[in-house]
Amino acid sequence: MAAALLLLLALFAHHPGRSHAFNLMNYVCNNRTSYGINSTYQSNVVSLLGSLATNASSSTVGFATETLGAAPDQVWGLALCRGDVNATSCASCLSLAPNITFGFCRGVRDASIYYDRCLLRYSDTDFLADPDAAAAAAAPVPFGVNKDINITSNPGQYVGLAADLIGALAGWAAHNSTRRYAAGVITSGEGFATTNRDLVYSIYGLVQCTPDLAPGTCQGCLGRLRDSMPRLFNGTSGAQFTAVWCNLRYEVYPFYDGSPVVNLVAPPPPAPASQNTNRTKGSGNAGTVMAIVLGVLVVVLASAFIIYIWRKGQAKQYPKEDEDAGSLLFDLTTLRRATANFAEENKLGHGGFGAVYKGFLPDGREIAVKRLDKASAQGLKELRNELLLVAKLRHNNLAKLLGVCLKGQEKLLVYEYLPNRSLDTFLFAPAAESNPLLDWETRYRIIYGVARGLLYLHEDSQIKIIHRDLKASNVLLDADMNPKISDFGLARLFNGDKTTTVTSQVVGTLGYMAPEYAVLGHLSVKLDVYSFGVLVLEVVTGRRNTDTCFESELEEPGNLLSYVWDHWLKRTPLETMDPSLDCQAPESEVLKCIHIGLLCVQENPADRPTMLDILMMLHGQEASFAAPSKPAFTFAYSEMMNSEERDNVSGGSGNQRAAAAAAVFSVNGMSVSEFQPR
Ligand SMILES: *[C@@H]1O[C@H](CO)[C@@H](O)[C@H](O)[C@H]1NC(C)=O
Ligand SMILES: *[C@@H]1O[C@H](CO)[C@@H](O)[C@H](O)[C@H]1NC(C)=O
Ligand SMILES: *[C@@H]1O[C@H](CO)[C@@H](O)[C@H](O)[C@H]1NC(C)=O
Ligand SMILES: *[C@@H]1O[C@H](CO)[C@@H](O)[C@H](O)[C@H]1NC(C)=O
Ligand SMILES: *[C@@H]1O[C@H](CO)[C@@H](O)[C@H](O)[C@H]1NC(C)=O
Ligand SMILES: *[C@@H]1O[C@H](CO)[C@@H](O)[C@H](O)[C@H]1NC(C)=O
Ligand SMILES: *[C@@H]1O[C@H](CO)[C@@H](O)[C@H](O)[C@H]1NC(C)=O
Ligand SMILES: *[C@@H]1O[C@H](CO)[C@@H](O)[C@H](O)[C@H]1NC(C)=O
Ligand SMILES: *[C@@H]1O[C@H](CO)[C@@H](O)[C@H](O)[C@H]1NC(C)=O
Repeated sequence: MAAALLLLLALFAHHPGRSHAFNLMNYVCNNRTSYGINSTYQSNVVSLLGSLATNASSSTVGFATETLGAAPDQVWGLALCRGDVNATSCASCLSLAPNITFGFCRGVRDASIYYDRCLLRYSDTDFLADPDAAAAAAAPVPFGVNKDINITSNPGQYVGLAADLIGALAGWAAHNSTRRYAAGVITSGEGFATTNRDLVYSIYGLVQCTPDLAPGTCQGCLGRLRDSMPRLFNGTSGAQFTAVWCNLRYEVYPFYDGSPVVNLVAPPPPAPASQNTNRTKGSGNAGTVMAIVLGVLVVVLASAFIIYIWRKGQAKQYPKEDEDAGSLLFDLTTLRRATANFAEENKLGHGGFGAVYKGFLPDGREIAVKRLDKASAQGLKELRNELLLVAKLRHNNLAKLLGVCLKGQEKLLVYEYLPNRSLDTFLFAPAAESNPLLDWETRYRIIYGVARGLLYLHEDSQIKIIHRDLKASNVLLDADMNPKISDFGLARLFNGDKTTTVTSQVVGTLGYMAPEYAVLGHLSVKLDVYSFGVLVLEVVTGRRNTDTCFESELEEPGNLLSYVWDHWLKRTPLETMDPSLDCQAPESEVLKCIHIGLLCVQENPADRPTMLDILMMLHGQEASFAAPSKPAFTFAYSEMMNSEERDNVSGGSGNQRAAAAAAVFSVNGMSVSEFQPR
């Protein structure tokens, strides 16, 4: 084949993410033949590029092909914008092409140029004559890989999941999209270790064909790319094929602008038995001990098996995870037996919506059973459907809802049991027993995990969920201190207003509640962002938002937000850091978290970032963040009080006023299931 100059750039120098800059991904100057400066061919190329940009951006599918001039100076061209790019962006992106055409590919008669949001090819041969044939013809396709993050655990499985996602996207793009475009995400319950320290749970991908391809050709074209992924991309976290007729890309972070149309959940990996034992049994000692343990284990397992078989004939079967909706329904008798009929000594606590009991299923699995103590506004059937939807949500940063049981007055939710209780028990432990487990690295991981869980609820899951009651006590920690958001979907279940933006029933916890929601009942994902911001600041400072003893120079009584804001203005934000975090915490990360926290608690919901923005920020540099405006911190202690209470306490000191305000709702840390907004 003629010498093709493939210049594969060092792709992805840093996460380009959702910045609206256009990133040059690759270009190919096929310098087999050349044209002279100021030749007719050159002027044809100039006109063609202009016309392609105009025509593609005004087309409904972001695509145009064209030919210009007469032999021997005839030129053929094609332009395509990514499926989630609007006309304005499409035109801006394509307008960059001449820089390459008359730069790197100067004098070259055939070139392809790939930006992240658009691509373009021109040639002196008619490559447009039969797109389906051209797309079907096998040719090596240039690719680039993300070198910033590599996958270190199970790379083969990771690239397999990426290929699964691409396969599903290919089907969608070929058959369901006139733009021949699909973006999606696949989420795995098991995280993959990476060369930076974050575990990766989700892979984001997109595929696109030119819209003039027949569905079968498009799917075939993408299928060939997909098939070469395991060989080419083993160990890389993100990669892309740049080609004209079909292209694809995947990354560990969301890099496309639109919403994913395909959400996949990876099947749990078939974990080797030895690994499981390792995990549940903790570290073993000497080999002899191991042998004895194994011997005993065999006997126990054998008898357990016999008992199980015997019981199976009598008792009803309890459901297993990841089966059909029907099996998410638990039997009331099973749950009564599991919790010793909701015995007081099995009670773990009482949350916003009911008491929680610890229990054991007949197979030995530990569970937490939440017994809802309030009649739902919904009918039983709707509640059941709603619960089943929520129960199907799967993300490693969500407490796993194993199933539900609805019978008569009993409404029970069955969760996985997490031994390490909730974040608040660690975070706000008295200084004397400050917990060595909660070092900065763990805190950062918790912030990151909660952000991922919320992103999943907001954007990636099949049903969009606003949590409405995110707080430290709703963040549970597993044995490895990974965060799991609990009680998600409950607010939605309880008032059944899934789509309305103004709700009459406010659910949440004072101090974590965004002002527009608490006062006006305005409902949007941004209220979770607000709560997330409060949580981040609590994690960094180790102090409760509801604490009232903050030294403050402001007129108003100090609270956590005003305290942090105060220091932010004085350019001393690092002084708010939890003193139990020694100097080990990297300042840049602490600063990044404080900055993100403040951006999240801004008064105007529109100013607050989305969870997607937040994840991008956690990957990015603090210097590039927007400056935060004053947080909505005055609300909790002044606006919320009605005039009577305000009069009653106006003579008191700041702390008294604050205490009184808290007393009005008597909600220090407890969920308020419901009160009427004013
Ligand atoms: C074309 O590519 C070949 C090899 O890649 C190179 O030696 C040659 O200088 C190039 N010609 C032009 C005009 O760029
Ligand atoms: C090409 O055209 C431009 C403007 O007409 C002129 O300035 C330049 O000298 C020409 N270059 C050649 C190599 O003819
Ligand atoms: C593309 O745009 C040009 C004008 O810029 C117009 O004359 C032409 O018809 C358009 N071609 C197509 C295929 O729409
Ligand atoms: C087009 O998309 C860009 C970037 O996503 C955005 O900034 C711009 O507001 C959009 N324009 C229109 C008209 O929607
Ligand atoms: C053109 O490309 C070069 C090399 O990539 C780059 O340095 C320059 O900024 C680009 N110019 C424009 C206008 O994009
Ligand atoms: C990832 O792997 C590639 C190739 O194996 C290597 O060049 C690169 O330095 C690695 N990146 C990191 C961050 O380790
Ligand atoms: C991927 O790499 C891992 C380890 O580097 C290896 O065990 C596995 O066989 C590789 N898979 C493929 C499909 O090459
Ligand atoms: C097309 O979309 C429907 C839902 O809108 C989906 O169920 C179906 O799987 C999609 N088809 C493909 C091939 O992805
Ligand atoms: C198994 O246990 C050893 C020793 O406690 C530990 O180092 C290792 O990480 C564990 N492996 C797994 C998969 O949990």
